[in-house]
Amino acid sequence: MLEATRYEKLFSTPVLRFRAPDHAALNAALLEEGARMRALSDGTHKSNRGGWHSEGNLFDGKPACLRRLRDLATEAVFAANDRIGATTPRAALDLKLFAWMNANPKGGFNAPHTHPGAHWSGVYYVAQPAVAPGNSGMIEFVDPRSDLPNWRILKAPPFRMKKKLRPQPGDLILFPSYLVHWVYPNEAEEERVSIAFNATFKPAKARK
Ligand SMILES: [Fe+2]
Repeated sequence: MLEATRYEKLFSTPVLRFRAPDHAALNAALLEEGARMRALSDGTHKSNRGGWHSEGNLFDGKPACLRRLRDLATEAVFAANDRIGATTPRAALDLKLFAWMNANPKGGFNAPHTHPGAHWSGVYYVAQPAVAPGNSGMIEFVDPRSDLPNWRILKAPPFRMKKKLRPQPGDLILFPSYLVHWVYPNEAEEERVSIAFNATFKPAKARK
């Protein structure tokens, strides 16, 4: 019989999840800050359908809760670099973070999209209504490889075309920005509030 000598998984897509230790207090402060911003701005329309999307870079904000989340996002991004075995040292990288808040009321969702030009994209969950089994408020990732429909016949895990997750408040997920993702409509009465961000690296400028 033929001897199997090797089995390799090539070109995998890392998706990471973290949990903020102080999420209850942090989320309360972020919701309050979100309400304050919404009173001042109607927001902007991007991938969100229904609901509110903050304008500009949320991480330019001065409130302590936004600075705290920016620190957590920075920590997550560099932890992810370590986890994937990145060999470029942290000191050789300048990190740019751009963040915004999404609030999806009942029926609100985000259409499929990617974040071209960034490296990691992340979502921090501020409020995620508890729901019965179903897809309400779930984020779904779509496998970026081509010709996958052809493999459906095998029902093999490495060639599943989609993967959905329903993170909890206080969770932060991180994934490569090239990955197509979208959010199922929120079926709950309460709003689903998340803060999304893009992390982009450039070579660090030489410091004198
Ligand atoms: Fe996104």
